[in-house]
Amino acid sequence: MNVLILGSGGREHAFAWKIAQSKKLENLYIAPGNAGTAHCGTNVNISATDFEAVKNLVWEKGIDLVLVGPEDPLVKGIHDYFLADEVLRDIPVIGPKKDGALLEGSKDFSKQFMIRHGIPTARYQSFTKENLNEGFSFLEKLEPPYVLKADGLAAGKGVLILEDINEAKAELKNMLTAGKFGTAGNTVVIEEFLKGIELSVFVLTDGNSYKILPAAKDYKRIGEGDTGLNTGGMGAVSPVPFADEAFIKKVEQLVVIPTIEGLKKENIDYRGFIFIGLMNSNGDPSVIEYNCRMGDPETEVVVPRIKSDLLELLEAVGSQTLHTQSFETDDRIATTVMLVSGGYPEEYEKGKVVTGLDKVKDSIAFHAGTTQAGEQVLTNGGRVIAVTSFGYSIDEAANKSFAAAAAIQYDKKYFRSDVGKDLLKYEARLTGG
Ligand code: AMP
Ligand code: GLY
Repeated sequence: MNVLILGSGGREHAFAWKIAQSKKLENLYIAPGNAGTAHCGTNVNISATDFEAVKNLVWEKGIDLVLVGPEDPLVKGIHDYFLADEVLRDIPVIGPKKDGALLEGSKDFSKQFMIRHGIPTARYQSFTKENLNEGFSFLEKLEPPYVLKADGLAAGKGVLILEDINEAKAELKNMLTAGKFGTAGNTVVIEEFLKGIELSVFVLTDGNSYKILPAAKDYKRIGEGDTGLNTGGMGAVSPVPFADEAFIKKVEQLVVIPTIEGLKKENIDYRGFIFIGLMNSNGDPSVIEYNCRMGDPETEVVVPRIKSDLLELLEAVGSQTLHTQSFETDDRIATTVMLVSGGYPEEYEKGKVVTGLDKVKDSIAFHAGTTQAGEQVLTNGGRVIAVTSFGYSIDEAANKSFAAAAAIQYDKKYFRSDVGKDLLKYEARLTGG
């Protein structure tokens, strides 16, 4: 098969690395890709949201399957674009159509969806500038901290968690009347704060059946000990020791099955990944959010743990035969540590020369924001490289990732050296020790 992966981050490198190992693969293209994906296939310098350019590429290269990495092209309707085109119609796109992508594209839609299908989630109400005063009254009824979410896509920055009621009111007003977060903030979801520990569960579905992929925990804050600004993700661990088999069973019954059934009932033909952000509150799951794609950097630990042929699974998603596929995972623990550019998630510089990649022997260096310039690899984003390692304990895996993170060099490199440390206290459960 000829496969096209859309996107340019660590997630897409992990997908490319895995699909390159498939016995079904003939040619792999990544658009636009990065310096890492170039080792797995051919990079093509077009944007994932330039649908016409994607169409031409698919046509030219005889692509048999398109895997969409990021949410943007999905929310903008790349799958619908394919279905509406006579030439592209029969080429499977892995990733939902616009209607399914709304699970991520609109917080208001996803909350209503959860309520309609009895899926556990925080109590909430949505507001627009027309009922700002009701929003103030709703805030007064809640206990702090206050959770405000811009309805639309805001590059992961549209959620505010505030301790002070007056600040919460001011920010609500900012979002609804002063365009904070642009049009994404025209509707704001206010919800109850959930206590517990967060994790992510990933599901691959063909619209009828599904496979639950390994769960992961990511590290969102820039600083060690979960301090400082939110980022795209600074590291990840899979499996999650506090999400034992009993908890995942509960997630399946209370969240996964009602989600798949709910999509069916609403005639949303969903083929792709569903990323379910969950709070584990004393053993009970509650959905924080859905995303219509895999997580980044969660993919960098989830995909390496999938032993089955991922391309075969994706092909089965396209042909709606996922129920005929078996699915095996590696029992070992995978950790990934994200190397970022100094200053990220605020201002940072690009174009720094990356060295030491050849010293990474016991880990996999998934490129997140790099570009090839002649013989050199240059930094090209805030998140630069995710180093993934395996181990029989979190410590063993994480220490390999830290060693690799130290060996890779570029000016103003930064990474969190506490990835996985908070999980050690749960680990006995995982290993039975
Ligand atoms: P989201 O973009 O919806 O994932 O929100 C970003 C982050 O805000 C989540 O990963 C959580 O850490 C936090 N968060 C969102 N909603 C809630 C909530 N209702 N209670 C507690 N934390 C939340
Ligand atoms: N790591 C979180 C995300 O991909 O949204």
